[in-house]
Amino acid sequence: MDEPRVTQPGPVPPCPERIAVYPGSFDPLTNGHVDIILRGARIFDRIVLAILVNPEKTPLFTIEERVATARDVFRDEPRVEVDAFDGLLVDYARRRGAHVIVRGLRAVSDFEYEFQMALMNRRLVPDIETVFMMPAEAYTYTSSRLIREIFALGGTISGLVPEIVETRLREKFAGR
Ligand code: PNS
Repeated sequence: MDEPRVTQPGPVPPCPERIAVYPGSFDPLTNGHVDIILRGARIFDRIVLAILVNPEKTPLFTIEERVATARDVFRDEPRVEVDAFDGLLVDYARRRGAHVIVRGLRAVSDFEYEFQMALMNRRLVPDIETVFMMPAEAYTYTSSRLIREIFALGGTISGLVPEIVETRLREKFAGR
């Protein structure tokens, strides 16, 4: 039987700035995402909230809308940058000079998918590390999918998303 392939980390990079990428769909951005990125901003010099352009999915908010909303939310956070990306995440991280991918872990149920992605990304680029961060307990049950569903069905989501996101959701559903 073949030995499992071991991916060793590369040499410690000369790193004038510790840059992390926090990727996701953010459709919409929730307070759980905000919590993670603000925690990340305390650890890294720069954290890039990187929104995936996914032609296979029909999102509620366009990529332009998601970028504009996130930029509004983090306009007073100099360490937070908002960007859009397509293609492989590790290629994007490399282009941005990031050695860390940040992902939020809310519950054990997130683990399997996250573990698989982290190891696959490591196989693709061994010197990019995935760092998992836990949001405040209050957000452990928040997800973009549930926010979309609850809002569409007339339930309250206040306190679970930034105010500006709630406004944008109201505008979006008013136009339907
Ligand atoms: O918020 P999401 O939808 O759970 O984020 C998933 C995301 C964007 C992190 C993942 O789908 C991704 O990295 N997509 C980019 C394409 C890629 O690199 N795929 C291989 C992952 S191992």
